[in-house]
Amino acid sequence: MEQIYEKIFELAKPYYEKARPYDILAIEWMIGQADRIADIEDLDKKLLLPLIILHDIGYARVAEDNPDVKDIKSKKIHMEEGAKIANAILIQLDYDQKYIEKITYYVSIHDNWIFNDDIPFKECKEMGVFNDLDFMYPLANPSMLKARADSMGETIEENIKGLKNDEKLKRRPLCCEQTKKLFKQLIEKAKTY
Ligand SMILES: [Fe+2]
Repeated sequence: MEQIYEKIFELAKPYYEKARPYDILAIEWMIGQADRIADIEDLDKKLLLPLIILHDIGYARVAEDNPDVKDIKSKKIHMEEGAKIANAILIQLDYDQKYIEKITYYVSIHDNWIFNDDIPFKECKEMGVFNDLDFMYPLANPSMLKARADSMGETIEENIKGLKNDEKLKRRPLCCEQTKKLFKQLIEKAKTY
């Protein structure tokens, strides 16, 4: 990872450690995949990588230790507050001015699909790939998948099936060949957990 992204991640980590330390592993996985996919799909890493690193940073300012990710109020706060923190970090690091506004804006709406707003994910391919990776991450991590299944009162097998047939995918399919391919691979891998 280029030095500038490492610096962003270093400044972001204390916020994740405060609220949801498990996000750090998720982000590391997403960065690895995004870096590879960006080369193949010709994506703008200067937008995509900071967006991935900073997207959930705002949970540090949601007033619970372990925010309920399904709670609409937490969702709104973590996006609004996350945008402010992301903006401050990028300014502190003197990040490319052209990108600061864009990244801040996308952090502020990065989960808008839960409000049935799919437009940003269709208009901006980096947002599409970010959201695809965010969506499929549980499949890449056995303990995360188990925690997800437990929280929904499902077996791992049922949970994998649920992800495969998720409503969101019917409304807005995965955004490119690379994320489609990865999703298939992860489903197969997850069946062996
Ligand atoms: Fe989020």
